[in-house]
Amino acid sequence: MTVQLLERDAGTELFDVTPLQPSLGALVSGIDLSRPLDGLTRDALRAALLHYRVLFFRDQNLTREQHIALGAAFGELEVHPVFSLPDYPEILPLISQELAGKYRQTSDGNWHADTTFRAEPSAASILIQRVSPSLGGDTVFANAVAAYETLDDETKERIDGLTAIHDPQIFLQFLDTEEKREALRSQYPPVEHPVVRIHPETGEKVLYVNSVFTRRIVGLEESESRALLTRLFDQVKRPEFQVRWSWKPGSIAFWDNRATQHYAVPDYTDARHMERVTIIGDRPVGPSLKS
Ligand code: SIN
Repeated sequence: MTVQLLERDAGTELFDVTPLQPSLGALVSGIDLSRPLDGLTRDALRAALLHYRVLFFRDQNLTREQHIALGAAFGELEVHPVFSLPDYPEILPLISQELAGKYRQTSDGNWHADTTFRAEPSAASILIQRVSPSLGGDTVFANAVAAYETLDDETKERIDGLTAIHDPQIFLQFLDTEEKREALRSQYPPVEHPVVRIHPETGEKVLYVNSVFTRRIVGLEESESRALLTRLFDQVKRPEFQVRWSWKPGSIAFWDNRATQHYAVPDYTDARHMERVTIIGDRPVGPSLKS
């Protein structure tokens, strides 16, 4: 089914939206993202993003300048503390060169929302594929609102007031001197976020722990924290909350980090080049702080 989201006065469609899975994800067509977005189109895309949580686009061969301009239409852009292009600091490159017949290990090949190690983690990310592996390298996205909603009542009650510690230690392996590692640790000390986040725009409750950046739950014994986190990480992995996206050069995914998690499937053996711009978000707030 194709949904026409909004129409201009003269009846011209802004773009078409085709839902891809019941839980999340939609393909957006009839739009050229290389052109500056007018306010109406930008607001309609923002509304579609809040509704579908991840939007996909094909054949958008944006220059880096156009990619940055697209992201900047939705908010201020982050500069990643470890990975950024020297001439385009707002662009995070994810470049995997060929591997001789072996599956790779990547830090994004685990379920996560982007940069939850920050006090103000990313609101949204826009990822474009530049080079496709011959086979594989899909990305899977999960609806973290549905993951929360389908927990049993006892677990929901238990986690609603909890907080967890997040840090960027996964990136230390990519820094080649102790000085750089120390700089990262001091710039991004461990930060405490609610385990259940209230989405700042939709008011929904979101499961907000992830297996890349979340270390432990505050106030619980280590073993209890580990058991609860494992249970919550597993909840995000349920296929009924997911959509899987197969890339081609020029494909784009635009996701809401406050409502989703994603997993870059590390099943490919040849080159895969991606570039991401990431929109700064706000400090997560949990249900216990809401009136
Ligand atoms: C990311 O985690 O932002 C990148 C996902 C991917 O490479 O598919």
